[in-house]
Amino acid sequence: MIKLALVGYGKMGKMIESIAPKDQFTITGTYDVINPVKEHLKNGSDVAIEFSTPASVIENIEFLSSRGIDVVCGTTGWYNKADIVKDIIKKYGTGFIYASNFSVGVNIFFNIVKNASKLMSNYPQYDTGIKETHHTQKLDKPSGTAIRIAEYLLEGIKSKKSFINDSQNPEPNEINIISERLTDVVGRHEVDFESEADTISLVHNAKSRRGFAEGALLAEKFIKGKKGFYKFEDFFCDLKI
Ligand SMILES: NC(=O)c1ccc[n+]([C@@H]2O[C@H](COP(=O)([O-])OP(=O)(O)OC[C@H]3O[C@@H](n4cnc5c(N)ncnc54)[C@H](O)[C@@H]3O)[C@@H](O)[C@H]2O)c1
Repeated sequence: MIKLALVGYGKMGKMIESIAPKDQFTITGTYDVINPVKEHLKNGSDVAIEFSTPASVIENIEFLSSRGIDVVCGTTGWYNKADIVKDIIKKYGTGFIYASNFSVGVNIFFNIVKNASKLMSNYPQYDTGIKETHHTQKLDKPSGTAIRIAEYLLEGIKSKKSFINDSQNPEPNEINIISERLTDVVGRHEVDFESEADTISLVHNAKSRRGFAEGALLAEKFIKGKKGFYKFEDFFCDLKI
């Protein structure tokens, strides 16, 4: 049984609580901006899942690590402070795993794109593009997931050198990421390989936040009792689902 603290109890914290199997996880406490973990931590947590805000995440990681609690971190927007977090984890000798996208399906999709990009580099008659669609509340553009997809494509397709967003006239060596914002779309990513003869499309379409929560729980099982700083994507293929 894993004793789990939920730090950040918004949309993601509540989704994790609703799907965590009761025979594998005990939720020891839920914490948010009006019930901060630093002041209200209850005893006896092995691991914390942290989905809060960029402004609070580093302080939460430091506090949890200082109490010997391993951290699964889903909060985004702190990666320019990764060195600070690495030092914290080293100092307290705890375990830490993070992902900008914990979705199991998206991580499978990353691996499909990685393999497809190697294959498609043999067929220069195909041009490559990305289309991402999200709900209208999403502030960033292109999505972090679309950028990661572009990076995987750039690793495999040697004729492409960089990506660009919403270009009307991309250079042949650029991957164009087209961003669309529509109501009620959780997140859709499409990779198109286009020739004069046909189009090959790969699509991931999220139906809800459930996939992120499933991945975070998977990461939790992975990190419990480990020491060090881990990125979910690097270990995804080794995780037991
Ligand atoms: N990595 C992924 O797969 C993934 C998936 C979805 C969302 N996210 C990210 O996770 C974060 C949270 O997303 P959400 O949709 O649940 O947001 P949300 O706005 O619904 O919830 C944020 C929560 O953080 C709490 N919070 C604020 N300050 C806090 C503090 N000092 N200590 C503890 N909690 C505090 C708020 O009270 C709220 O409960 C965002 O950064 C988002 O980009 C990541």
